[in-house]
Amino acid sequence: MTTKILSMQLIKKLSLIKKILSSLRSKGRSIGFVPTMGYLHDGHLSLCRQSVKDNDITVMSVFVNSKQFAPDEDFKKYPRDIRRDLSLARKCGVDFVFYPDNDEVYTKDHLTYVEVESLSKILCGRTRPGHFKGVATIVLKLLNIIQPDIFYLGQKDYQQYVVINKMIKDLNLPVRLKLMPIVRETSGLAMSSRNSYLSKENREKASIIYRALQKARILVKLNEFKPTEMKDFIVDTVAKKMQVEYVEILDLSSLQPVNKITGRVLIAVAARIAGVRLIDNVII
Ligand code: PAJ
Repeated sequence: MTTKILSMQLIKKLSLIKKILSSLRSKGRSIGFVPTMGYLHDGHLSLCRQSVKDNDITVMSVFVNSKQFAPDEDFKKYPRDIRRDLSLARKCGVDFVFYPDNDEVYTKDHLTYVEVESLSKILCGRTRPGHFKGVATIVLKLLNIIQPDIFYLGQKDYQQYVVINKMIKDLNLPVRLKLMPIVRETSGLAMSSRNSYLSKENREKASIIYRALQKARILVKLNEFKPTEMKDFIVDTVAKKMQVEYVEILDLSSLQPVNKITGRVLIAVAARIAGVRLIDNVII
């Protein structure tokens, strides 16, 4: 590791971040990158901490990407607090926060999108058409701007990870992707910027997802369960407090349903409470 630069910098201009990083790269500094939509919590910060450990320089982006929200979704009301984000990022040892305006990222004549076929259409893609197209497009754009050695994504958005991983392979992108574990509140609820929409009482109720997933983990260890039985058990448990959108037991890389729970599988859940859509998963 080379010595760290002393204070964190906030950069809004694309040309400036490219210039600074290109100069650091030419001096042999390794660059880690954490893309976020801000309103940081410990989940985001765990990715930053790992990047600070692994790399000479850590860049975090804060950009609420309009193109991954459907017109009826919460783009406008998505929580934002850049001052708080900057203070948290600084404490973690982030070197640069890239915080571009929308016009800086998407010019008025923007026409190009990345579509990772089929993987984008299942699970969350069913109820959020166009979401993963927006995600893949912004992630590719950010990777091209930052050109990191390693970038970090969280397991909480496991389908996002699979989609981006496929894009990296299919498009031969020269970058390493590290998947980081889910960080949870003490109740077990997976941390999410959207948890801020929930009352204290509903946050507590929403921890039912993790409790159901934990029970599922124990049941798998104890017994041979068919995926359909396991699914029914989780649906019934979560439905006591929330509206279930899906529960699926899936192969880790293809995201196709498994016929038998053997080896490592993903159990993924999407459910709503008070109109707020939450996702969670475990790998067992
Ligand atoms: P955002 O929801 O802000 O999440 C940024 C990163 O933090 C993602 O990789 C996400 O998986 C990770 N993350 C969120 N909650 C987490 C938790 N509880 N534990 C661990 N990691 C967690 O995901 C996005 O933004 C966007 O789609 C983005 C990739 C930035 C593209 O716009």
